[in-house]
Amino acid sequence: MQDRGTWTSKFGFVMATAGSAIGLGNIWKFPYVAGANGGGGFLLIYLAIILTIGLSVLLAELVIGRSTQRNPVGAFKRLKTSKFWPLIGYMGIITAFVILSFYIVVAGWTLAYIEKTLTGLLSSDKDAIGAIFGGFITSPVEPILWAGVFMAMVVYVVVGGISEGVEKCSRYLMPALFVLVIVMCFRSMTLEGAAAGWEFFTQPKWEDVTFKTVIEALGQAFFSLSLGMGTIITYGSYMDRKTDIVEAGATVVALDTLIALLAGVMVLPAVFAFGLDPAAGPGLTFVTLPHVFSQMPGGIFFGPLFFLLLAIAALTSAVSLLEVVTAYFVDELGMSRKKVTIMAGAVGFLLCIPSSLSLGVWSDYTIFGKGFLDLMDFLATNIMLPAGGMAIALFVGWVVPKAMVMDLVNGNPKYEALAKIWLVFVRFISPLGIFIVMLNGLPVIKDFMPWN
Ligand code: TRP
Repeated sequence: MQDRGTWTSKFGFVMATAGSAIGLGNIWKFPYVAGANGGGGFLLIYLAIILTIGLSVLLAELVIGRSTQRNPVGAFKRLKTSKFWPLIGYMGIITAFVILSFYIVVAGWTLAYIEKTLTGLLSSDKDAIGAIFGGFITSPVEPILWAGVFMAMVVYVVVGGISEGVEKCSRYLMPALFVLVIVMCFRSMTLEGAAAGWEFFTQPKWEDVTFKTVIEALGQAFFSLSLGMGTIITYGSYMDRKTDIVEAGATVVALDTLIALLAGVMVLPAVFAFGLDPAAGPGLTFVTLPHVFSQMPGGIFFGPLFFLLLAIAALTSAVSLLEVVTAYFVDELGMSRKKVTIMAGAVGFLLCIPSSLSLGVWSDYTIFGKGFLDLMDFLATNIMLPAGGMAIALFVGWVVPKAMVMDLVNGNPKYEALAKIWLVFVRFISPLGIFIVMLNGLPVIKDFMPWN
């Protein structure tokens, strides 16, 4: 059997896992989802979910991964329970492709925007910046080519293996991203008219909060923390037996949340300063930030650099999606890492073609009123990830032998009390919370819920 690989240190694990968590979900998605769901109220609900359901499921995935040292399917199989549980692992592999199909498209946009900010976009006026974005994403060829370039980069990193590929890539690039985001927040906050955006983001308007806000916040929490499809199981499987899971896991959650908050502070004040609509949707980052760059001294330098770092954040996340697929085929079927990765990358690229076209020439074809890209995003974020997360919590809470569950404590007495609280979460609170939110989210039965 091939050597599976391991992280070189706890720092390496934290950077790689934060690299998976921190991505387009934080910088592109979080500000526009918060913007479309009322700002401050969404923010508080999101934070509450991260601290309860998010953290408890993340620790559950780490425990499964570290104790079994396997990919999601292998991990469930290794615990020799019923035939049902490995299905959760298989669903994770499928979810990885569902997410890749739209993730790669948007990641391709970030590459294109490195070029565009270098070549004149920033000297365009306000309306032109919006029109250029619209023209670009609806064009039938250009975005697909960029997506292909991006997918090739992802494949290259994953072929490199765990410590030399995945870890190395995150170790240097994540700290750089962090610094740049802080610089951008500062610029955005000091724009004239920024205060209204700050207020929108930090002051909850409870009259705007509905059950939909909670559903969106739950999906966003799963997506942002890379939960519910076995990414964290897989990354946990490369962790050594000594690492303190609680500390490493909590650090990842804290970093991911911090970057999402900073992205909100970076984007929303600028939206208000330029009189744009916070509920404008997926274009928000690609339209507002070029405005900010065009107004700031040195924008021609910071603009391309920002999109470069956004591409990097997307890269370390997309790597983690592909790694789940690769780990499965390498562990379970003994295939070569290189071969599997290239093949899976090719499939991922093919799937991104309908996603990209659904924004332009195929925009008339819809299923349940959604284009292909939106549908994939909805299925993964609002259904598959929460369902996977619920199953993982129940599995650790009720099925896994107690001794293994206590891997969380790892001989460290200071975590014993915490482990008891955590068990209450994975057994009852988290699965039940997810269940209620999802039930209400299913459009078909939604109308029957008493609170509607
Ligand atoms: N968390 C990443 C982001 O915020 C995306 C991502 C990577 C992901 N791996 C995942 C989402 C696994 C869900 C599941 O951009």
